[in-house]
Formats: sequence, structure tokens, C-alpha cells
Amino acid sequence: MCGIVAYIGQRDAYPILIKGLQRLEYRGYDSAGIALLNGSLNIYKKKGKVQELVDFAENQNLTGFTGIGHTRWATHGKPDDVNAHPHVSGNGRLTLVHNGIIENYTSLKKALEKVGHVFHTETDTEVLVHLIEEVQKRDNLTIEEAVREALTNVVGAYAIVVIDREDQDKLVAARKGSPLVIGIGEDEFFLASDGTPIVEYTKKVIYLDDEQVAVVHRNGEYEIRTIENEVHTPFVQELNMEIDRIEKGGYDYFMLKEIHEQPVTINDAMRGRLNSEAGWVKLGGMDNYVDHIKKAERFIILGCGTSWHAGLIAEYLFEDLARIPVEVEYASEFRYRNPVITDRDVVIAISQSGETADTYAALELAKKNGALLYGIVNVVGSSIARLTHAGSYIHAGPEIGVASTKAFTAQVTLLTLMALQIGRERGTISDEYFTKLLKELDTIPGKVARMLESNDKIKYIASEIKDASNALYLGRGYNFPVALEGALKLKEISYIHAEGYPAAEMKHGPIALIDENMPVIVIATNKSLNEKIVSNIQEVKARKGIVLAIVTEGDREIKEVADYTIEIPDTEEPFTPLLSVIPLQLLSYHIAVMRGCNVDQPRNLAKSVTVE
Ligand code: G6P
Repeated sequence: MCGIVAYIGQRDAYPILIKGLQRLEYRGYDSAGIALLNGSLNIYKKKGKVQELVDFAENQNLTGFTGIGHTRWATHGKPDDVNAHPHVSGNGRLTLVHNGIIENYTSLKKALEKVGHVFHTETDTEVLVHLIEEVQKRDNLTIEEAVREALTNVVGAYAIVVIDREDQDKLVAARKGSPLVIGIGEDEFFLASDGTPIVEYTKKVIYLDDEQVAVVHRNGEYEIRTIENEVHTPFVQELNMEIDRIEKGGYDYFMLKEIHEQPVTINDAMRGRLNSEAGWVKLGGMDNYVDHIKKAERFIILGCGTSWHAGLIAEYLFEDLARIPVEVEYASEFRYRNPVITDRDVVIAISQSGETADTYAALELAKKNGALLYGIVNVVGSSIARLTHAGSYIHAGPEIGVASTKAFTAQVTLLTLMALQIGRERGTISDEYFTKLLKELDTIPGKVARMLESNDKIKYIASEIKDASNALYLGRGYNFPVALEGALKLKEISYIHAEGYPAAEMKHGPIALIDENMPVIVIATNKSLNEKIVSNIQEVKARKGIVLAIVTEGDREIKEVADYTIEIPDTEEPFTPLLSVIPLQLLSYHIAVMRGCNVDQPRNLAKSVTVE
């Protein structure tokens, strides 16, 4: 969702801000804006893409060694030029960009209106900048004091960066619930919602914590205090990001690049954690908690979107291999129920970004009730990674395409390792099966690489079904969550309505939709349930549906009935999702490209959903 970038130092801020905003485009947004400080202040804002802002700003005054920029994903107020950030205080002195939601903005607005403030936009952000102005004027405060004081009156989530025109050699930033990273250069600072706008300038970063306010000065000095005004000594760490991981590297879209990275990213998720020769699997993140985890009465898995689908696969893995009862919950539902949580529960949070607001809030609730929190997260240093007691990074590298691909398979890989280790600790897997599974898991990256060789065939099938208005995805067992994920991928990026169903449930509703125009994608790679799936396919064919079946190499029976088949290499059943999801990712990708969709930035979607 919204992205922030800011610069103060000795260089021209404009190119740094624009490049930074382009790097943040993947988060999802609908307008963009910048403010440049050069004695006076110039603000340029535009609905639409960053390129439209660039075209608009061309030939205007773009000078300034200080600036703030923003990509806005509309929450309060429609996406237009006026509501775009930055926003300015009533007296014109303060300019601010904001990511998050000020929940009590209505009451703050009323109070400010009573003392004469006039608002020109529909945003909660404008209220915030007026509030800081009011506090600054009232108590004659410096900008950092005013920000601190104002924020004590704010309910909600924020990451902000503020410019004070009367104090031109500093920027003030603060966060609560929305991420903010400070990059430290030589007498210069780069601030951003994540590391992508910073990585090419410096790798020295500070991740601001909740309720902290940072002041960065043009002379290279900085200070961090809590909003209670206590000085905080920051932890300066190295940004764990490589520049080539955030560029397209010859691919048309990030999504295609990320699909093709999967043999490497699955391997990276396993690196140092699995040794099939020596016969062990070990997640360092579990070291201090193994006993607690293996004795858990129940695992509660929380996530949203694709991460929730990874959680559903984990339910099969943990029950199958470790014999632990599992509940998989949408974080957004869990947090507003009155869930029963005890200190004998282990809560596993799955999140690519580590910033999803619902997942974060659900975890806070579980923590309060005494559960142990374990994070399966991609973005190092993210909020969820810091909130959990322990966890394992999936090491997939930055995922830029909004539709998650490599993070999903890395999450499933990590959860597979976790199930294997816990199963081993609990003695629920026989030696023989354990050894066999470890050896097989080692071959998965190679098998994924082989799957990618089916690209041309999948592209052809995509051309045959690209004009459909609806699609149905069916799977059983381990492949039921894959059916959900396949359907999600298709609707996210191609805007074709698609639903995933457990194959047997088809008879309880979706079968009514099947006719000669309905593609039905059946994931039919489960050895244990093969006959049942063949029957499901026959039922679809009897109603003239178009069947694309994902089958195991050598399967003849399904080939005879299905219209199209794609083969995956043979593997152990718990690992089939890692292979069967690959053709579904490619299918969605090709259909979306053929339909002229913006694959990496689908309409209305955001990569990192930092508001509930
Ligand atoms: C958004 C993204 C999805 C992602 C979901 C959960 O909807 O577009 O790709 O699966 O959020 O995000 P998380 O970062 O918590 O995995």
C-alpha cells in the first residue's frame, strides 16, 4: 500500500525521490506526489502512475537537496490530485507524507475546525498535519517536539515524514504500525517504507520501531526518541538486499522473473537447514523453543491471501507428518472473534511482507493470551518478524510482483521443513519415510526447473482459454489449497472470475455452472485419491466443461479424458503442491499478458496491506 520515500543531504533530491517512488510502485497505489525544499517549497501531485507525475513535473522547478515523496493507495477520499500526498498545514509551514490510517481523525478534525482550521481534502492525513501545526503554534515547539506531542493524541497507524519550512536542515519521521526504514549515508539520509529505494545508496539502515520519532539532519547527525521523549539508541544494521533482485533482469515482468527464480528460492529456503545425506533437518529459529513447539496442544496458523493458502498446505503437512492438531485462520476473522487461545498453543504467522495489518493485530491478540508466536516471514526486520518470539525467514529475496509466487513456494518449503523436524522430534515419522522424504525434498528445486520447461505448452493452453469469463479450480488433499491459490492467481492478474474448490464439493454447487465455456482446471497429482479425481473429471466432461488437468508424468488415464494435460515430475505426495502450483502461476501469467493486463500491478491490489 502507500509508499514513502524521503531524502536530505547534499544531492538533488528529485531523481532520488522519483526512482524511489518507482521502486515502491509494486506496493500498489493510485496517485503519487513529491515536495522539494529549496528555500521555498514546491509540491507536485498527480493521480495515476509515477510516470504521470514525472510528465507533469517536467519543466517545473525541481531543485532542492531535501524532499519527500509518496505513492498513495486511497483509503479516506478518492484517488485524485487533491487527495494525493504530500499534505500541507494551514499556515503552509509543514508538509507531510503519511502511510497508515488515523482512526480518530473525525474527532480530531472537529476539534481543529473549532479553532479555525480549514480542510481542503478528504484525507485523514491532512488532519494529522494540521494537528501538528496546532500543537507547534500553541506551545511554540520545534518540529520534532510538535510531532511527538501531536502523536500522543493520535489513534491508528502511521509512518510519517515531515518537513518544516522554517527548519530546513532536518526531516522528522515517526512510525506506529506502518514500516519506516532510515538509510544512513555520508552526511545524507534516505527514508523509505522499505529498503528498495535505499539499497543503491547505502546498506546501513535503522528500522524505526513503533512510537519512535527520528530526526535526521543534513550534517549527518540523527537522534531517535520515543513519543514519551526518552532517548533511544538505535540498532544500525546491514540492509539484506541485493540490487539485482529488485530489477527485472531481462524479463518482461517481475512476476515472470519471480516464477523463474523458484528453483533457486526453494533451494535458498532449505539452505543450511536440510542435509539429506546426513539425514537431518533443523530450523535454527526453533532452537530455543523446540520443546515448547513439539509439545504444543495445537498449532494456530494465521495469514492472509496467498500466505493463508500456504498455511492450509501446512495443515496437511503438520497433521500428516507431526500429528499435531492445526487450525488455519484468516487473520482478519481471528482478530475480531473471541478466539480461545492458551499458552499451550503455538501460533504460526505466515507473511511475505511481515507488515500485513490484520496478521499483525491477530498476533498481538495471541501474544496477549500467552501463546508462543512463530513467524514465517520474507522481509527481514519487518514488524511481524519483530513481534514474534521466534521464527524462520524464507529467504526468497524481494518479491515485487503483487501476485505472490516465489514467496508462496518458499513458505511451503519452510513449513515442510518445520513439519519434518517436528515430526522427527515427536517420533511420528518412521526412519525409512523420513529418509525418503529428505532425499526427495532435495530434488524439488531441480523438478521445479523441469516444470518451467513446460512454459510454451502452458502458453498455448492459455491462448485457448484466455477469453473465458469464469474458471473453476479443483483439487483434493494437498492440492485443494493449490486449487485455491491457482484461482486467486488468475483473478488477481487477469480479472477472470475464478473459484477454487475441493474437487468433491463441486457437486454441491459449482457443477451447476459448468458448460462448454467453462474451463475447469483439475490438479490431479494425488496418488492416494487418483480414482476419485478421475471420476470428478468425468463429471465435468459429461457437462461439456473444458478440462485442463495437472497430472503426474506417465499418467495415461486422465490424458484420455482431459482436453489438455500438463505433467509434473513424480514426487512424494506432501511435496506435490511445490510442483503443481508452478503451471498454475504460468497459466495466469500468460492469460493476463494476453488480455493486456498489468501483471505486476493489478488494479486495486496492494502488495503490502498495511491497513485492515
Ligand atoms: C496482499 C498481497 C498478496 C499476499 C497478501 C498477504 O493481498 O497482494 O500477495 O498474499 O497480501 O500478504 P503477506 O505479506 O502477509 O504475505
